[in-house]
Amino acid sequence: MTKEDLVNEIKRLREEKNAIILAHYYTLPEVQEIADFVGDSLALARKAASTDASIILFAGVHFMAETAKILNPDKKVLVPDMSAGCCLADSCLAADLARFKEEHPDYLVLSYVNCSAAVKALSDLIVTSGNALKLVNTLPKDAKILFTPDQNLGDYINRQTGRQMLLWDGMCRIHDHYTVDDLELVKESYPGVQVVAHPECRREFLAHADFVGSTAAMINYISESPDQEFIVATESGILHELKKRNPGKTFHTLFNGDPSHDCGSMKKNNLENIYNALLNEDPELTMDPELMAKSLAPIQKMLELS
Ligand code: 13P
Repeated sequence: MTKEDLVNEIKRLREEKNAIILAHYYTLPEVQEIADFVGDSLALARKAASTDASIILFAGVHFMAETAKILNPDKKVLVPDMSAGCCLADSCLAADLARFKEEHPDYLVLSYVNCSAAVKALSDLIVTSGNALKLVNTLPKDAKILFTPDQNLGDYINRQTGRQMLLWDGMCRIHDHYTVDDLELVKESYPGVQVVAHPECRREFLAHADFVGSTAAMINYISESPDQEFIVATESGILHELKKRNPGKTFHTLFNGDPSHDCGSMKKNNLENIYNALLNEDPELTMDPELMAKSLAPIQKMLELS
């Protein structure tokens, strides 16, 4: 099938089956273009919570589809490629977190949405990079808090809020990999250009950023800024929306846009597997009802508070 045929067939199947396609900003441009809704993790969770579609096709990574299913236990959630995981989510195993809780019953567990449903079920509250600073302040000032799984985001929250959360030893391989030397190389070519970064980057890297925020916050900041040129420190999929919203502005990424520095899992979503998933209603994400019920509470709390 040609690309045009695939696009037309996806549109036809979506209509016929009352399906909605949700996509993260890190997916391929053609995936973002076919999606009904593109957003950051927070906006996607909100959209999943409010949709009246019968089928949700999630073009993102596994934990995002899980969140959509937890919020919609009676709906069919399709995942174009079930192997699209998240190294950050994998860095916190539920068994290890359960052991921590047993040994430290006085700690509240605050978890970044980039974690498995089993970790969510052990958490008191879920946050995304878009609401973490706001939500941590809803917890008692003197509370002992463990933040899982992203130590860079946790460290950023600690510095911004004056909290002293204990940090799980996890990170996103894409963002944690950016070094100040990588950034200096780009800045040498484009002196004076603003640096906009995601809080999953390391502390020393973020110290050189003019703005730090979630993917949606980065897009909004750049779109509202009078500046015309930016160094963008996150996964390159974000460039699609940035260029759409800001046709006159120029964007530079680290590593000259080398795709080997992209998130391989996000890039597993493509028109072929979206078409096949809608056609066959497979692969479908199924989850244990008890796990869904347990992990719903901290997600719902997040949605109510943010
Ligand atoms: P946001 O979507 O919250 O910006 O986070 C990016 C991310 O880690 C996606 O996995």
